[in-house]
Amino acid sequence: MGYEHIRVESKGRVGVITLDRPQALNALCTPLIDEVNQALTQFEGDDKIGCIVLTGSEKAFAAGADIKEMSELTYMDAYLGDFITKWEQVSRTRKPIIAAVAGYALGGGCELAMMCDFIIAADNAKFGQPEITLGVMPGAGGTQRLTRLVGKSKAMDLCLTGRMMDAEEAERSGLVARVVPADDLMTEALKAADKIAGFSLPIAMMTKESVNRSYETTLTEGLRFERRVFHSMFATEDQKEGMAAFVEKRKPQFSNK
Ligand code: CAA
Repeated sequence: MGYEHIRVESKGRVGVITLDRPQALNALCTPLIDEVNQALTQFEGDDKIGCIVLTGSEKAFAAGADIKEMSELTYMDAYLGDFITKWEQVSRTRKPIIAAVAGYALGGGCELAMMCDFIIAADNAKFGQPEITLGVMPGAGGTQRLTRLVGKSKAMDLCLTGRMMDAEEAERSGLVARVVPADDLMTEALKAADKIAGFSLPIAMMTKESVNRSYETTLTEGLRFERRVFHSMFATEDQKEGMAAFVEKRKPQFSNK
């Protein structure tokens, strides 16, 4: 399939989506989001893909929603069009998805990265929610996901001042899982994705579902959900294989069943 604003490739069992709109620092215009969603649908439906990596360029993961596209919207355009709903396909992706972030991840760029399961950042990454400088506030999770990840104080600091934080501060704050040298970003992201894709896909998907549940519910309900899903894993062939392989001191051969 031909894409205009992204590049899509498979590397073994890893599907890679690269935002590729350099003239606008990967600003997230609607056609770009439509293409990301098409690529996600393609990878979700492909048995050969076990993990997805979403990345940008060395200069920008994404510099936010497309300001030029948004600037003339009326309230009714925004309300009835509800363009951000389209972005949420990333957060609904059932297969594991890693954001590999170099350069700017601002506004909607930071929000898009937070919709992924975890963020691996290059040491040149810069995160921020500068919407307040444009006379708006974050609209794709910046006041919600960011607050859960970094806590109220830092989220307030970022959303109210619009300042950027570097990769080191982002890791210290819990936004980023790990920071790697910029030159190694894709190698490290692919290594992590490859590792995940080498495990049982249904088990990885259920694990992701269970971790995500912790954001949606109370501890008691979350623990109950986790226990039920854990029990259900004993109905899989991969549980039998994984544990048998340990006992027999060999590598497991997961069948994704
Ligand atoms: N939307 C549209 N175009 C953008 C853009 C964006 N978010 N960010 C950058 N661009 C464009 C610029 O307009 C410029 O295009 P032209 O060459 O045609 O003028 C090109 O990308 C390069 O940008 P700069 O010349 O500004 O590059 P720089 O290196 O000097 O600065 C930057 C980089 C600090 C990231 C700066 O581009 C910037 O501040 N961008 C805007 C960041 C921002 O405010 N993001 C939040 C958007 S709102 C949002 O995301 C709402 C939401 O929650 C959903």
